[in-house]
Amino acid sequence: MDWGMENRLSKTIKPDGRAFYLAMDHGYFQGVPAGLENAGAAAKPLLKYVDAVFMPRGSIRATLDPRMETPLILRVSGGNSMVGDDLSHENLSVSMTEIIRLNAAAVGYSVYVGSKYEHQTILGLAKLVDECQIYGIPVMAVTAVGREEESKTARYLGLAARVCAEQGADVVKTYYCDDFDKVVAGCPVPVVIAGGPRTENDLEVLEFVYNGIQAGAIGVNLGRNIWKNDSPEGMARALQAVIHENKTPKEAFEIYESMKNA
Ligand code: R5P
Repeated sequence: MDWGMENRLSKTIKPDGRAFYLAMDHGYFQGVPAGLENAGAAAKPLLKYVDAVFMPRGSIRATLDPRMETPLILRVSGGNSMVGDDLSHENLSVSMTEIIRLNAAAVGYSVYVGSKYEHQTILGLAKLVDECQIYGIPVMAVTAVGREEESKTARYLGLAARVCAEQGADVVKTYYCDDFDKVVAGCPVPVVIAGGPRTENDLEVLEFVYNGIQAGAIGVNLGRNIWKNDSPEGMARALQAVIHENKTPKEAFEIYESMKNA
């Protein structure tokens, strides 16, 4: 592996092999979610707990302090919205020049396996990997956006993750599901878990993240279950404890509660 690629990867996958990404790229498939009206303001108190922030370039430039130390994962696909003809009608939307200009430690790109525009999104990933390999920039493939609920099976997520890994993604984001170990076993690159809609109770988040890590995930790319929480800081700190300190969900929940009630 070239020095630049290894250096960037080391910023987003820590020495313990684990990763905690704060996802704030939801506008185009969620509208303006409560808690994310100003992404930079929502991110600011959480930066000390996470290993990277995942955002689109407009939000980065408009709302984040360029002097921040937390690495950026830049969303580089788009061209669609929640009210368009088909959410899967997405493509590469950011140039390599922009990726480098924004000093991205990695990029994130969505692939819609099993959707109308599957073909263009998979080939777009392949092209992105070609370019990013030249410049030593890791690619996180994002699977199953818009299909969080109906597609949470190891069969579907395992296929989606495998397709992305085969096209050269360095990390794959998917959702937690039953038999998650099968998703990880079939994916030859590191897997991170997203959260989907906010869970009914807060312990549940810590449990699926813990279970996902036990099943082989290296960490999370998590959004709504952090910034929609009543205590985003408490949840971020508790997740950090599960991901990097091997705390059990119960132990991490105590951390969450103590911060929420402080
Ligand atoms: C989906 O495209 C996005 O990439 C989100 O970053 C990802 O789903 C994580 O967010 P959440 O935990 O809210 O699902």
